[in-house]
Amino acid sequence: MYNSKITGLGYYVPENIVTNNDLKEFMETSDEWIQERTGIKERRWIDPATEDTTAVMGAKASRIAIERAGLTKDEIDFIVFATLSPDMYFPGGGVQVQEMLDMPTIGALDVRNQCSGFIYAMSVADQFIKTGMYKNILVIGSEHHSGGLEKSTRGRGVTVIFGDGAGAAVLSRCEEGGKGILSSHLHSEGKHAKQLVLEGPATQRWVPEILEKNDPDDVSYYPYMNGPFVFKHAITRFSEAIVEGLEANKLEKEDIDILIPHQANLRIAQFIQKKFRLSDDQVYNNIMKYGNTTAASVIIALTEAWEKGKIKDNDLVVLAAFGSGFTWGSVIIRW
Ligand code: ACO
Repeated sequence: MYNSKITGLGYYVPENIVTNNDLKEFMETSDEWIQERTGIKERRWIDPATEDTTAVMGAKASRIAIERAGLTKDEIDFIVFATLSPDMYFPGGGVQVQEMLDMPTIGALDVRNQCSGFIYAMSVADQFIKTGMYKNILVIGSEHHSGGLEKSTRGRGVTVIFGDGAGAAVLSRCEEGGKGILSSHLHSEGKHAKQLVLEGPATQRWVPEILEKNDPDDVSYYPYMNGPFVFKHAITRFSEAIVEGLEANKLEKEDIDILIPHQANLRIAQFIQKKFRLSDDQVYNNIMKYGNTTAASVIIALTEAWEKGKIKDNDLVVLAAFGSGFTWGSVIIRW
């Protein structure tokens, strides 16, 4: 069995900055409400006049990650692409990136696990490397939320939270014992699927039906979130996933050098920080600048933390996420 380690990281966010005050143009909200409840000050939303899409942003982040890994695109053996906002219903973003980067006919797999998408994607890639099947895997998380949000007071509970962006990592075979990904832990609880959901258009809620009814009260094609319910589950599941990862490796919370939590809400991250008695320097947050970018959030935060020199050789890095599904999980890395 081999280990896998991260050899390259990259991220890309659209240039267009949307502040909390900008949102007041189309909904009743306030900078105070958004900052107090979520910590968000601004987010990036794709300017429709640009070329950016979920796949394009994923490709841009990937180019940086591959270059930083010291590889060429032809040395990547496989792609895992996580998103809840693909450019098309099918095919998925993985094959689009394969084409955009002019890669050989390698396999491309899409992961649909919302906010924990990148955790799931890393875990999948790790298993392929552990078994020796692949040497270098490109793992991408990318989201284009802004095109599908309800930009009105009715949708404000969800719309103010989400932002666009992408991140990518190259996971490579590592023969040094005790380094790289130590373990990953994945969970789900489908009975809560409808607490955080976008129901249509899909096969149970197809476009002709939606168009035919033309019902102004139909909000099924906008994301729905039972915020307080999700919040309660998030703080419990985040903690469980981190504890599970530490215990699996016979580690204690004092061994954590840096925690990169999914950027769902600053209050959730602060709760976890307090629970695990971590200092401000030991938890990396950037939700203030980008909002919640779901499958892209962990990888954008990890890349930024690494770029700022906050991750050093041999550090114990903990990634954790929770989101729609419900799905949640953690990845424990010895850097
Ligand atoms: N501006 C002003 N007022 C607002 C806004 C807004 N943008 N949004 C909602 N409100 C109002 C509501 O209408 C409500 O008013 P009322 O009391 O008069 O009815 C009031 O504020 C409180 O609304 P709540 O929804 O109860 O607000 P809450 O304090 O729960 O905060 C939030 C909402 C920020 C969404 C929080 O519940 C949360 O962060 N939940 C967890 C999110 C999460 O972890 N998601 C997982 C990942 S996402 C994924 O997987 C896709």
